[in-house]
Amino acid sequence: MPLSVKHLLGIKELTPQDIEQIFQTADEFKQVLQRPIKKVPTLRDTTVANIFFENSTRTRLSFELAEKRLGADVVNFSASGSSVSKGETLIDTVNNILAMKVDMVVMRHSASGAPWFLARHIDASIINAGDGTNEHPTQALLDAFSIREKVGSLKGKRIAIIGDIMHSRVALSNIFCLAKLGAEVMVSGPPTLIPKHIHSLGVRVEYNVKKALEWCDVANVLRIQLERQHKPLFSTLREYALFYGVNKQMLDSLKKEIIIMHPGPINRGVEINSDVADSKQSIILDQVENGVAIRMAVIYLLSGRKDLQDSIG
Ligand code: CP
Repeated sequence: MPLSVKHLLGIKELTPQDIEQIFQTADEFKQVLQRPIKKVPTLRDTTVANIFFENSTRTRLSFELAEKRLGADVVNFSASGSSVSKGETLIDTVNNILAMKVDMVVMRHSASGAPWFLARHIDASIINAGDGTNEHPTQALLDAFSIREKVGSLKGKRIAIIGDIMHSRVALSNIFCLAKLGAEVMVSGPPTLIPKHIHSLGVRVEYNVKKALEWCDVANVLRIQLERQHKPLFSTLREYALFYGVNKQMLDSLKKEIIIMHPGPINRGVEINSDVADSKQSIILDQVENGVAIRMAVIYLLSGRKDLQDSIG
């Protein structure tokens, strides 16, 4: 089954069937990644450009690995050190890269909506690797896939997203994705970091993090995005850690064992303590591992191929 979309711009545009199709395809690629030779020739006639206008560790490496595991040719572009500093526009930059016979573009940009803008001007498929405070669709897919791996169907499962909801593209994509999969979602953190309109997305709001942890089966803890905050929204990081940070004492006081997630990068001792991030309840590194299979699935499905079983052997 092909996806209902030509690009992966946001989770908002995907159907639940699209998400299930991505998960089933990722299941296949995850098996490939357990083999001694973790590479298939599926996309050996395809070239993918990873265009990053904003910093990244996990997403960029994960996309590059996914593309190489699929046998694609890969070119990497960073805005720093490029002709963007000489005034070249986004469309000119991308059209010049496409002129070198590139088939697919993976883009991270600090401007919310940049991938949608680009999609109106170029023919190649675009995958959004994070746009401003808007969406980070492959992160939400790998998060939901990681929960599914641990607990099965997400229908009726309670997921708390804790931290800086206001500035987080991970939060918004997760809310869209989890809702499409039938999960119940709660957001928690300081009132100044939770958008006032968030109820309209069908999520619960709980300003007391301890109560959110008591309610949920899974807690996805998010980083404070100081780089996107242009005025103080809480007094100090120390105070934030004291009132909103997730620590071992809190988890031990719960009457159940919940799953702990974090998309990274982690600010240890602020939103989450090391004894939680590194605990057996944490699936943070499983999320990173699953990111490669999810991105392989997205790239494969957007390529329009229909020969999965033949090409992976
Ligand atoms: N989770 C995530 O997007 O991490 P990076 O910013 O390192 O890509």
